[in-house]
Amino acid sequence: MKAGEMLYEGKAKQLFLTEDPNVVRVKYKDSATAFNGEKRATLEGKGELNNRISTIFFQYLKDNGIRNHFIEPISPLEQLVRKVEIISLEVVVRNIVAGTLCKRIGLSEGTALPRPVVEFYYKDDALGDPLVNRDHISALNLATPDQVAQMREIALKVNELLKKLLAELQIILVDFKLEFGLDGEGKLLLADEISPDTCRFWDAGTGEKLDKDRFRRDLGQVVEAYQDILNRLGGKKHV
Ligand code: C5P
Repeated sequence: MKAGEMLYEGKAKQLFLTEDPNVVRVKYKDSATAFNGEKRATLEGKGELNNRISTIFFQYLKDNGIRNHFIEPISPLEQLVRKVEIISLEVVVRNIVAGTLCKRIGLSEGTALPRPVVEFYYKDDALGDPLVNRDHISALNLATPDQVAQMREIALKVNELLKKLLAELQIILVDFKLEFGLDGEGKLLLADEISPDTCRFWDAGTGEKLDKDRFRRDLGQVVEAYQDILNRLGGKKHV
């Protein structure tokens, strides 16, 4: 494969090779999907908003000692990131009960959790991304016990940092999903994106949802909510 060729296309992003074998170009798309791809739409402007929001979060985490794949934004829709082999796990951290946790443990949406809950899901569309524990992860050889421990520790640190940043902006961090990869030296690196597509954000004053739940639940004003998040983060054009 040559520089410029598409390496991978996902539901929300495309990845392209660059001249540097250790660097890939990520292009955010305007497409929105939910419920394992069953619900789809094109939301004009979402790609740019997520590129810009993800840039701010990854830069902030890097500035606060969380190594991650992010290098720099290069256009409204694109950023350069370190090339990693993505681990087939989604790491979810929850501060407040919402989404699938309501059904799993029977608590109602909005119930505060006494301490953050960390969950691992196996990234497999055909299986519907099932919840897995450490033994499943070992059985499937998805990550070593040490990598699982590291992912948990980093995810909890990310939670503390993001919660603090967002609280200052009157945003409650309800929950979020992270993905990790292994770089060329086999080192664990926080990767993928951090945006309203992958987090739940509630306005601290009104409880209004400012994330992908607006799309999942047909609440309308999806792009406007993402724009609100970017505005509060002090988002500025980076090109
Ligand atoms: O749907 P659920 O309640 O399990 O989602 C928990 C968190 O993980 C939410 O912030 C959701 O946006 C995120 N998530 C994600 N990608 C998935 C599943 C969940 O970004 N495939």
